[in-house]
Amino acid sequence: MKKPIDRRVFFKGCLSAASLALANPSLLAKTKGEIKLYSRARLVDQNDQPIKTASLKSKQCYVFNYPYVSTPCFLINLGQSVDQKEHLITENGQGYDWQGGVGPTNSIVSFAAICAHKLSYPTRTISFISYRPEQVLVDEQNQQSTAAQQVIYCCSERSVYDPLKGAKVLDGPAPEPLTTIILEHDVTHDEYYAIGTLGSEMYDRFFSRFEFNLALENQLENVAEHVTQSARVYHQSEYSEHLQSC
Ligand code: FES
Repeated sequence: MKKPIDRRVFFKGCLSAASLALANPSLLAKTKGEIKLYSRARLVDQNDQPIKTASLKSKQCYVFNYPYVSTPCFLINLGQSVDQKEHLITENGQGYDWQGGVGPTNSIVSFAAICAHKLSYPTRTISFISYRPEQVLVDEQNQQSTAAQQVIYCCSERSVYDPLKGAKVLDGPAPEPLTTIILEHDVTHDEYYAIGTLGSEMYDRFFSRFEFNLALENQLENVAEHVTQSARVYHQSEYSEHLQSC
């Protein structure tokens, strides 16, 4: 059964992030579209120490849970500067502007790790959706299939997303881009924070469908509890025991 979202926490999160936006207006002024702000959560390692730029290896993918304690997100260092804005459109026709990466070289990006098709996501045992830095074939059904590098590939029904372009859909049945997780890089302390989402969210459907599994896998009583202070970051190969490639 679907858990009701705790709106008090949500609005508290909104206020917290709104305060941040007031302190740093350029952050949100740059990010127009379907924005939802949640609590500002510091990204930390297994020892609860802040994630630094140097700990995010080039062309590697990490996973953390945000904005809910059970909802996984990809954190990727693309290994190249991505400062191009990308205009994207959700399934319901809402446009939004993705602003590229953050960090010293604009190479760090984050997206919900929940496929926009049928919500495949990384479980603790297996993940059918993962970041693939190597060359892979896209549109394999078609004789004109092309090779692509640096994609997010969902092997469930072969949806392919481009993380260099805001996780827009390159191929497959996914009807819209992956949800962007809005990151902030604190330049002074070299720390990273998740502050909200951009684009279409799928969390209500996700909880309706997977609440029981999520509670079991993560040993949670309330899978829809908000992340508030910090979010632990795992390498994607540590978050899931097995990464299914295709
Ligand atoms: S769930 Fe990802 S392609 Fe179907």
